[in-house]
Amino acid sequence: MESFLNAMPKAELHLHLEGTLEPELMFQFAQRNGITLPYETVDQLREAYDFGNLQDFLDLYYQGAEVLQTEQDFYDLTWAYIERCKAQNVIHIEPFFDPQTHTDRSVPFATVISGISRALHDAEIKYGISSGLIMCFLRHLSELEALNTLHQAEPYLDKIIGIGLDSSEQGHPPAKFERVFAKARSMGLLAVAHAGEEGPAQNVIDTLDLLKVDRIDHGVRAAEDAALMQRLAKEKMALTVCPLSNTRLRVFNDMSQHNILQMLEQGLKVTVNSDDPAYFGGYLTENFIALEQGLGMTREQAVQLAANSFEYSFASRERKSEMKKLLQQFSAGQ
Ligand code: ADE
Ligand code: ZN
Repeated sequence: MESFLNAMPKAELHLHLEGTLEPELMFQFAQRNGITLPYETVDQLREAYDFGNLQDFLDLYYQGAEVLQTEQDFYDLTWAYIERCKAQNVIHIEPFFDPQTHTDRSVPFATVISGISRALHDAEIKYGISSGLIMCFLRHLSELEALNTLHQAEPYLDKIIGIGLDSSEQGHPPAKFERVFAKARSMGLLAVAHAGEEGPAQNVIDTLDLLKVDRIDHGVRAAEDAALMQRLAKEKMALTVCPLSNTRLRVFNDMSQHNILQMLEQGLKVTVNSDDPAYFGGYLTENFIALEQGLGMTREQAVQLAANSFEYSFASRERKSEMKKLLQQFSAGQ
């Protein structure tokens, strides 16, 4: 089953590039940029990855991102993730990046986006991995700061397919970004947002109604509202679920309690994703394996989850059908 899950063609729709910063790479970047980390060794750093909630994680995640300084750092970070994708047969990716995490430290927007998009371009040329980059706003910062970030992105709209919203959900409801999302959508950008990760089902409702998103990131707490579940199914609204993230951040105490397969069986358009793999113990294959081990996911369910990742991606119609065909050929050959 593990080799089946690894070889199965799949797409990743919820992945923070800053969350792919493996401790080894963090030390390498720190050294080449003359930064001293508050940890002596890679093992010490890994030991610190024991989170009680989302905020515990975010504090370390923002601290870790400080080693990213140059265009080459952003290229190398993205390329290391691409190599993981290649090894796990992830054939399409829609990664997130958080420009404000960098521009607030005086790293220019251009430096960040150039390094990332150069690696994504090389991924397509070298490995045929297609992609669409999504720029996230940090919801703990103000509406004005998000609008400024959107303005900074204007010269690079050819490199971005959409916007997202991440960071601390508690205390920063979707309504705060209603005007930012309206402006971005009027510029032709697609929209996604984290909702219903730690926050209540009402955040998912408001994210749909106020931000008018094309997908919901996480959304697992929608299960607390039966009417919302019916609406999500009826509207075929995709939820990009992140199993290992949810157990590491204690949204669920144990994988055996995760609701992703229940939602799948109820007809919801759920997908499997790794969120911040360097911090949560695994990339896409490891997330699928965790569902098999913790919830007894069948091969049929795995294939359905992979099919959803293609169907609800932002890839072109032609690319979607090409990817779905690859998946059909794969599952027919097993
Ligand atoms: N930023 C990176 N990972 C995140 C998550 N799981 N939730 C909110 N913001 C994030
Ligand atoms: Zn996320």
